[in-house]
Amino acid sequence: MTSRVIPLIDSRVAMPPRAVHEYVETPAVGDLADKLGRPLRDLRISVTDRCNFRCTYCMPKEVFDSDYRFLRHSDLLTFEEIARLAAAFVRHGVEKIRLTGGEPLLRKDLHKLIAMLSPLRTQGGNELDIALTTNGSVLARKAQQLADAGLKRITVSLDGLDDATFRRMNDVDFPVRDVLAGIDAAAAAGMTPVKINMVVKRGVNEREIVAMARHFRGTGHIVRFIEYMDVGTSNGWRMDEVVPSREVLQRIAEEFPLEPLDARYSGEVAERWRYRDGQGEIGVISSVSQAFCRDCTRARLSTEGKLYLCLFAHQGHDLRALLRGNGAQGLTEKKIEEAIGRIWSARADRYSELRTEATPAMPKVEMSYIGG
Ligand code: GTP
Ligand code: 5AD
Ligand code: SF4
Ligand code: SF4
Repeated sequence: MTSRVIPLIDSRVAMPPRAVHEYVETPAVGDLADKLGRPLRDLRISVTDRCNFRCTYCMPKEVFDSDYRFLRHSDLLTFEEIARLAAAFVRHGVEKIRLTGGEPLLRKDLHKLIAMLSPLRTQGGNELDIALTTNGSVLARKAQQLADAGLKRITVSLDGLDDATFRRMNDVDFPVRDVLAGIDAAAAAGMTPVKINMVVKRGVNEREIVAMARHFRGTGHIVRFIEYMDVGTSNGWRMDEVVPSREVLQRIAEEFPLEPLDARYSGEVAERWRYRDGQGEIGVISSVSQAFCRDCTRARLSTEGKLYLCLFAHQGHDLRALLRGNGAQGLTEKKIEEAIGRIWSARADRYSELRTEATPAMPKVEMSYIGG
């Protein structure tokens, strides 16, 4: 493994959260727009900062070792608190909630949270879409339970089909076949189409690009190839390790001709392509080579209840403090909504559009903490 600089500070807490009193005078703002005119439509909720994998691009072992200070259980938002905040976001126009982590299926009884969120589906203008991103390691056991709780969509991360390559990406011994069994179980439980996320790292799993396309063609599942990003500060990201999406598409199209598809909705992260022979579709996510901040409608709620306005942010807004109050009962729903409104209205984040050689070294939260 290449040597990398290990940060001296814990970037997870690089900046103190802002205080509660900064929010309480905020006016309510129904249908929100941020400073760049972007509405609030997606909420990604991290339910744990822990993971049983150590992907080198996300939680490198050298940093996330036995000395790493993960959050204490009492710091985590409870399911009740998550549901309460989620409801406030839905009232503000959120149409999609994605549960992430860390590895969300490590959070005990996650299906109970899904059941608690399910009634929100019909409370906004459009039906709320609830999805989950998982590494698939325990999915075979849990898929049916999740579907029974109301989960309809799932995304499974899988960086290769070959065990040795998979290990080079996730740094643990875990058989690919168990993740594939998880994908099958999710499909059998009706969570179709399953989306499969593959992060591509130059010189590590490039060879798996076409292999993954070939394997999942004709299955109905949708593989999305993700450019390796400079999230956090611990992965030692280098531009020369990024494989641009256009190269990914070229390699696949040489074997399986492709044609572009329209986006399903405005602001869709993945650019969609279909096989000309009708064997399904793939996606590419090009956050490095083609930033998509202009349409970014995503907010992220960290495991301990801080609201982040960008995947590359370093400072969050402490919503947990609003829920738990300063020794009191916490704020009313209206005050919480107002706080969210004010935070979103002041947003101007567009990190990927501003990325330069200097920005990867800036302080940023880790993706395992903020949610993928
Ligand atoms: P659906 O269309 O709802 O299925 O989800 P999605 O396309 O948003 O996909 P998903 O949530 O699985 O995101 C896929 C990957 O895209 C994430 O794991 C990130 O690597 C990347 N990604 C998602 N949102 C953002 C974002 O706001 N900014 C950046 N830079 N990357 C993102
Ligand atoms: N670059 C691109 N994608 C990443 N993910 C995690 N870290 C990175 C990174 N540095 C993706 C994972 C997973 C999702 C949670 O985020 O592959 O699909
Ligand atoms: Fe875990 Fe997902 Fe991060 Fe890999 S990318 S370490 S599976 S949270
Ligand atoms: Fe949104 Fe930030 Fe990603 Fe841009 S870099 S798309 S603003 S999360």
